[in-house]
Amino acid sequence: MLKLGVLASGRGSNFQSIIESTENGCLKGKAEIAVLIVDKEEAFARKRARNHGIAEVWLNPKDSPTKDAYFERIRDELNARAVDLVVLAGFMRIVRKPLIDAFPNRIMNIHPALLPAFPGLHAQQQAVDYGVRVSGCTVHFVDEGMDTGPVIIQSAVPVAPDDTEETLSARILTEEHRIYPEAIRLYAEGRLSVENRKVNIAAARTPQSGFTNPLPGN
Ligand code: GAR
Repeated sequence: MLKLGVLASGRGSNFQSIIESTENGCLKGKAEIAVLIVDKEEAFARKRARNHGIAEVWLNPKDSPTKDAYFERIRDELNARAVDLVVLAGFMRIVRKPLIDAFPNRIMNIHPALLPAFPGLHAQQQAVDYGVRVSGCTVHFVDEGMDTGPVIIQSAVPVAPDDTEETLSARILTEEHRIYPEAIRLYAEGRLSVENRKVNIAAARTPQSGFTNPLPGN
């Protein structure tokens, strides 16, 4: 069973969708959440962890002398719990080298835009302000840049002329909750590989029907 370490900063609705997927959905029997780590004491995600009997830890960045030292603490906590895959779920910090080096192509993030469009904060507001007709969300492996790592799955949603940051965020969030567990499932099934920043998704072989399309929704 794949052991997940989830990092979050706030509300944790993506964390919730991953919890539910491990309990009753596409991750059942394939992945379990070993620990939730938050950087904010008041993060609502902690309550979600407690509701489901999941270990949760608040690591206060102020207790670490440097940003690298903070990510060394996170790395040590994840290693102590034998985590295989790190899942960023609304974790609002740029991941530093000590964690990336410890988990090469083993850290995933979800971003509320079709990367490389609209990286960084307020991606949905950026999309509304730019006037695009389509936006969406991206699950990607994390490298040292901001939202620059290899793309695993994307899902597109239409942008309406009267959309606000709130209405577009809600439409995108529904897709986030769908594709993040699917990306983790592909990882858990050993079907993801990275070459020259491109993620290859291997087809699954099922006993009945031979190969199945790995892309969710198809
Ligand atoms: C999500 O929309 C996620 O895509 C975004 O923060 C939100 C967290 O919501 N992440 C980023 O913008 C990372 N650059 P949640 O706490 O309810 O999952």
